[in-house]
Amino acid sequence: MKLNNVDFDTYFKNYPNEQGFFGKYGGSYISPDLQKAMQEINEAYFTICKSSKFISELRKIRKEFQGRPTPISYLERLSKSIGNAQIYVKREDLNHTGAHKLNHCMGEALLAKYMGKKKVIAETGAGQHGVALATAAAYFGLECDIYMGSVDIKKQAPNVARMKILGANVVEVTHGLATLKEAVDAAFEAYSKEYKTAIYCIGSVLGPHPFPMMVRDFQSVVGIEARAQFTEMTGELPDAVVACVGGGSNAAGMFAGFLNDPVDLYGVEPLGRGEKLGDHAASLKFGTEGIMHGFNSIMLKDENGEPAPVYSVASGLDYPSSGPEHAFLRDIGRVKYDVINDEETIDAFFTLSKMEGIIPAIESAHAVAYGMKLAKKLGKGSILVNLSGRGDKDMDYIIEKYGIR
Ligand SMILES: Cc1ncc(COP(=O)(O)O)c(C=O)c1O
Repeated sequence: MKLNNVDFDTYFKNYPNEQGFFGKYGGSYISPDLQKAMQEINEAYFTICKSSKFISELRKIRKEFQGRPTPISYLERLSKSIGNAQIYVKREDLNHTGAHKLNHCMGEALLAKYMGKKKVIAETGAGQHGVALATAAAYFGLECDIYMGSVDIKKQAPNVARMKILGANVVEVTHGLATLKEAVDAAFEAYSKEYKTAIYCIGSVLGPHPFPMMVRDFQSVVGIEARAQFTEMTGELPDAVVACVGGGSNAAGMFAGFLNDPVDLYGVEPLGRGEKLGDHAASLKFGTEGIMHGFNSIMLKDENGEPAPVYSVASGLDYPSSGPEHAFLRDIGRVKYDVINDEETIDAFFTLSKMEGIIPAIESAHAVAYGMKLAKKLGKGSILVNLSGRGDKDMDYIIEKYGIR
């Protein structure tokens, strides 16, 4: 399949290019010292991660430790309550630790082990990436420092406790808005001092090359599994695939399985409280081109051109930019990016719980809400939603803010 001069038959060989660019997006805008560290990771990725030893060890881990493949569930009651379109979910909530994040964490930590590193460092928003990395670090016997904004520490207390139980050191970040962006800043700063013995394990398809590529590749297991499972279940491909987009890792992994297919792809960003800057985190919808955290992408900026304050009910989605590959896929028209607000998300959260017995993560509830809207609009066909995680971590926050509906 070809679209705007992009050949999807050979897409994964060409995107990103050797310098880490997806068209004009991506790259590596960092200090020379960090550049050396990225070069080391990049070289290790192409030698170690492509070796049959690494691949077979990762496959074994996915099967025996993570519990992969995760299933696809048909949402019969929900689909029927809406109309004639069929809604399915890919159950990343059933991946060990309760979200897709473990897919790239096990890959990154295994790479750290092969590279002889002693420590993994990362940021976290909702705490899912932090828990996943702390899990991977415990599995491989690595030290683990997780940087987290104080706002998110308060909102996601169960995940903070889980990280600590798993042996990670949770470092509180108090400056600025004290959420995900500041946590990334702090984690990068720490990494620039420790890169000889540590490896940075970014939480999404973000950051300088090679992270957007590496995280996408580790997450592509979701899309590859989903494509095979869906065709086995139904005898055909879904008409549409939907995933929420914070940094974009679950969406990138899911879409990777369907980019070369006649399947409509939808990325869902958080509209939060509304369209005013500061009330949402929908960078691909409202942002402009800019460089942040070492990569060029679309981002939300304030009047000084700096990353703008963002908001979403979902801690894992409130980031002022998105991965460079998403900016590229948006520009060439392969993926449509749209928005869902807080209220629609909370409705979907309770609806999915009550009708299907699945409590979704608030991040994933954005994708569910969009899948429900799409089902109503299309009135036929099949929609596959990536249920990126489960809602246990959100219980306290939802009950306190919205009560039980
Ligand atoms: C369950 C869940 N889904 C989605 C996301 C968003 O991240 P990404 O866009 O990288 O998939 C997060 C982030 O913490 C998450 O915890």
